[in-house]
Amino acid sequence: MTNMPPYPQPTQAYYLQLPDNMQAWLTNPAFPRTAKYDPAWVLENDMGPHVLWMTEWALEAVDIKPGMKVLDLGCGRGTSSIFLAREMQAQVWATDLWIPAEENEVRIAAAGLSDQITAMHAEAHALPYEEGFFDLIISIDAYQYFGTADLYLGAMHSLLKPGGQLAVVMPGVTRELPDGPPAHLKDYWDWEFCCFHTADWWQQHWAKTGLMQSVQTDVLEDGWKRWLEWTLVGNHARIGPYVDSVGGNEADMLRDDAGEIFCFNLVVARKGD
Ligand SMILES: C[S@@+](CC[C@H](N)C(=O)[O-])C[C@H]1O[C@@H](n2cnc3c(N)ncnc32)[C@H](O)[C@@H]1O
Repeated sequence: MTNMPPYPQPTQAYYLQLPDNMQAWLTNPAFPRTAKYDPAWVLENDMGPHVLWMTEWALEAVDIKPGMKVLDLGCGRGTSSIFLAREMQAQVWATDLWIPAEENEVRIAAAGLSDQITAMHAEAHALPYEEGFFDLIISIDAYQYFGTADLYLGAMHSLLKPGGQLAVVMPGVTRELPDGPPAHLKDYWDWEFCCFHTADWWQQHWAKTGLMQSVQTDVLEDGWKRWLEWTLVGNHARIGPYVDSVGGNEADMLRDDAGEIFCFNLVVARKGD
């Protein structure tokens, strides 16, 4: 995980003359806030299945008020941080490892949100924040890279205020795969998918620590279809070579799976008062 993944660079050009079905996907009524955002901007900063859809879904499960202090952990190119600042009037600390803070500062300034968002380059095990600083920690398509360790939840717990919330959205699996992938996914499998887990696994993973109250999970309805749609939009719109983590075959993998294994999980919990 230390090498830069082969994500498209922000300067990459996109051709957004999309066919009608793809235009319709991008204005999904389940994500009305996201529908206001230019898909070309989301694509330029793309690091995984539509980050604004996932952020909007997570926000349905948390209490957030204007001015709250939010840590966006593993924010990538800061798209979700800009969304949180704009939509929720939050004060956001956009924190990431692979993307330098200076790069995110440029995007944040272009969005006119430099007074609301602080870009930070940090590793998830060495976060430069005071204990009890945040009202909300949100993490989209990133927590699986570090949060599967038994003790990691302690770091989140200590950064939250009493009553603070933690909400993470991650790609996951519908059943645990202790023996590796099922036959229909063997040709596609990236060994790093071992960090994908079920919603129940995450529920137990947090609940067993006793650190957080009311650990709740949800599975995004037809999450694999949203993932496939976003992959197809990217494949259609992207100009120039790009290889995803399964050798350019992500769309085929998702179609062949048809939701049997791949899904998106949300895990939410609150620190006690
Ligand atoms: C798949 S990208 C998703 C980025 C963004 N949340 C999005 O959905 O567009 C995963 C992100 O997790 C971050 N990440 C992975 N391991 C990390 C670590 N140990 N500490 C901090 N961030 C990490 C990476 O820097 C990367 O931006």
